[in-house]
Amino acid sequence: MSTNTQTNRVTSSAATVDPHLRRGPRGFPLLPGGYGRSTYYTGAPSPYAVRGQGCRVWDDRGRELIDANNNFTSLIHGNAHPEITEAATKALSSGASWGIPNLYEWELADLLLSRLPDLDQVRFANSGTEAVMSAIRIARGSTGRERVIVTKGGYHGTSEVALAAGGAANTRGVPRGVTDDVTRVPLNDTEFLRQAIESAPDAYAAIILDLLPNRAGLLRISEDFVTTARELATRYGIVLIIDEVISLRLGPHGLSGEYGVSPDLLTTGKTIGGGFAVGAVAGLGELMSEVDPTRPGSLPHGGTFSGNPVSMAAGAAALRIYSESEVKRLNSLGDAARESVQARVADVGWEVRGQGSLLRAVPAGTEKVDAETQHRLWWESYDRGLLGSPANLLSLSTPMDKTVADEIADRLADAVLAVAAGERN
Ligand SMILES: Cc1ncc(COP(=O)(O)O)c(C=O)c1O
Repeated sequence: MSTNTQTNRVTSSAATVDPHLRRGPRGFPLLPGGYGRSTYYTGAPSPYAVRGQGCRVWDDRGRELIDANNNFTSLIHGNAHPEITEAATKALSSGASWGIPNLYEWELADLLLSRLPDLDQVRFANSGTEAVMSAIRIARGSTGRERVIVTKGGYHGTSEVALAAGGAANTRGVPRGVTDDVTRVPLNDTEFLRQAIESAPDAYAAIILDLLPNRAGLLRISEDFVTTARELATRYGIVLIIDEVISLRLGPHGLSGEYGVSPDLLTTGKTIGGGFAVGAVAGLGELMSEVDPTRPGSLPHGGTFSGNPVSMAAGAAALRIYSESEVKRLNSLGDAARESVQARVADVGWEVRGQGSLLRAVPAGTEKVDAETQHRLWWESYDRGLLGSPANLLSLSTPMDKTVADEIADRLADAVLAVAAGERN
């Protein structure tokens, strides 16, 4: 059991004036709601981070936390990793970004594609959102079709098409024309997928899948669903996009490599930037040639900071350090952590989902966890010195060893038991 859970306890009703809510000259908080990202929101003003080192983060109240948020899974090597810091600093000291190509882009492209042996080329962007947006455009441009299939509850960033995956709750402000072109298939409902495609096979440009969708409670997509998607895509000339913005970390060839499925396009981001802003679309040469500017009529793709030297250099260092043995080591630490938490929370009606270095505790059997439960678990974890994502997705990083992973498991199990006890009262 974790011992240091009560020290420097942070409560959700912070007594001091929260810096996020500082008023501007017109009486509004300086940031909408007090937040720079809506995805930070945990139901109450949270402390803010002031420093990170390795697998630890310190907040403005001096509280030390195990960082299992890792900026939403992107810090695969934790905070301020010396080799990544050195690579980024070296690149930065030669100029933050330039308006002609740089060699770091080639280096990261080479390292990334060597992990994706079935794919030929890559284009970099600044976020996973941009990568998915570009992949969908490439699919539409190459097929001349418009409809896209997503799985219900899948999250692919905040482009308009991607938001449609989340359903009506996420599409206020998205034109009807956009949502009408998106078919939402229930997770793992292979028959629904088949019928949707076979009823209009010439309408679909792309199927986009996240194999371990966090917004759907980190439920795995079944092998049968993935195989069927691959077969139907091939038969009807639809582009299969696998979104590995989070899941690339789970295998030496990403999670699609673990499934043994070859996408036509693969989107990624997060880990491949070493902690800096990044996104990427990798794909078959024939599809990627859609954005080849030497071809007449190619699709537009840009981004002032796409492929910038700092993200590319940091990302290259990150991929080099994330060797096959490190992938395996982190995955087995995650497997052990899940097993130990599961043993302690099953009796109170909770379960731990995930794969390898990703884990998430949820009330057993739920696909969509309500916001209040998520917030309560986040604060109970925080109070015990464990920092997760607001949805309580925890990710491991390479500075962690078995002692840290055991501590994460203890703190998480304690937090779940506290939430469950509160529910029973
Ligand atoms: C599967 C998936 N796709 C796309 C995105 C969007 O990436 P970004 O936040 O870098 O825009 C995310 C973000 O978490 C994601 O999990």
